[in-house]
Amino acid sequence: MSVARVRGIELAYEVAGAGSPIVLLHGFPFNRTLWREQVESLGGHHHRVITVDLRGHGETTATREPATMEVMAEDVAALLDELGIARVVIGGLSMGGYVALAFTRLFPERVRALLLADTRPQADTGEARLAREETATRALGEGMQTIADAMLPKLFAPSTQAERPEVVARVREMILNTNPQGAASALRGMAVREDHTKFLREINCPALIIVGSLDQITPPADAELMRREIRGSRLEVIAGAGHVSNVERPAEFNRALENFLREPEA
Ligand code: MLT
Repeated sequence: MSVARVRGIELAYEVAGAGSPIVLLHGFPFNRTLWREQVESLGGHHHRVITVDLRGHGETTATREPATMEVMAEDVAALLDELGIARVVIGGLSMGGYVALAFTRLFPERVRALLLADTRPQADTGEARLAREETATRALGEGMQTIADAMLPKLFAPSTQAERPEVVARVREMILNTNPQGAASALRGMAVREDHTKFLREINCPALIIVGSLDQITPPADAELMRREIRGSRLEVIAGAGHVSNVERPAEFNRALENFLREPEA
């Protein structure tokens, strides 16, 4: 693990492999180890894979103010400056996808290609915002156990839940290891995130969209919307995966991602 001191925080990250750079951003409330299988696979295939603990997650400093998607995107840009990297393939799962979209809007010249996994472009509804604030208050008052209990049943496909206890345990562990202040700030940041639906038409880099066919949190309809609106984009639906499709079905996820990265324009 390495640490970059940027923008008043310590940002934890890891670099594996050598070649063209790809940055992978985890969902909420996980950390960079979410990408273990992708690091193993891509790191051996001509890629320099950079995984980051987003603000308030993993080993990166938590801050009290809302960690907006723009703040997190600017953290990533500052890390790339530190590493002397101008352009990257940027990818994110769920909240990481919100950050990847914000990064693409803020720094289009830095994005060679985009991966949007199990995510959505829309902003929160009023009801979702209220629920975020309740969850933030609960995280701060009761800790992450209650957040894990509430989230876990929605994260996976039924078969993962029933047959892959090691996957469920690994994701639970990530949630329990998240700093409650970091989780609360991210929830408050997600609650005020921009609606990126209209922005999708302005994206002019290659884009791959991946979704688990059984994703209950950001369902395939959201992925279809992104595919329709992002010119030239491609959609891969991973049969039998839920919201954490990269962990539930790593072989299928990696195959889709590697095929995309092999294309000359990506
Ligand atoms: C995530 O997996 O990052 C979150 O479930 C996204 C969200 O709550 O909108």
